[in-house]
Amino acid sequence: MDETLPDPPSNARRRFLIGTGALTTSLATVSHAEYFTHQPSAAQPYNMRVRFTLNGEPHELELDSRATLLDTLREKLGLMGTKKGCDRGQCGACTVLVNGRRVNSCLTLAATLEGEEVRTIEGLGRPGALHPAQAAFAERDALQCGYCTPGQVMSCVALVEEARAGMPSAVTTDLRSPVRLSDEEIRERMSGNICRCGAYVNIVAAVRDVAGRKA
Ligand code: FES
Ligand code: FES
Repeated sequence: MDETLPDPPSNARRRFLIGTGALTTSLATVSHAEYFTHQPSAAQPYNMRVRFTLNGEPHELELDSRATLLDTLREKLGLMGTKKGCDRGQCGACTVLVNGRRVNSCLTLAATLEGEEVRTIEGLGRPGALHPAQAAFAERDALQCGYCTPGQVMSCVALVEEARAGMPSAVTTDLRSPVRLSDEEIRERMSGNICRCGAYVNIVAAVRDVAGRKA
């Protein structure tokens, strides 16, 4: 009689989980810094050349095709204004503009930016010559720790342009008239930017100021 019995389902499941855990651990040992240091080879043909405009300046970079725009800005180009919060598209701290449209740079591969125009918080204004959105956030005291603020400001800049272009949001009720940025509209359009300090009241006031000035 054959004594070999199939694994009970619970054992098979345990072996699968152990294998998955080992794979996850080995993937996690690939650091972000490695993206920018290794050279292309037959075994690792990931490096590529990308040209794009960053804050008005042309850039040509050799980078790993798996590198995000966020890591490229911070680790390769030294632009620390764009913040890493969740690194998975949930908090908005990494918001930048690509061709005027806001994107989560943690979800954007730098390799996709060939010929595109990228704008970060460093490209808006500078001390003594703030962009109106930066000035409004300062005047309204629309921050506490400030970690989310670059992303909030970049979203504010894009939001005002989106409304001017007539782009509706989930709370827009009248699709035939120009978009009016009510507080409800502002809250909806800024809902991708989370503030753990809860400075929302003043953030909405700052965006309202910018929208009013633009109008
Ligand atoms: Fe990109 Fe949170 S860091 S959305
Ligand atoms: Fe601290 Fe927004 S000001 S997270």
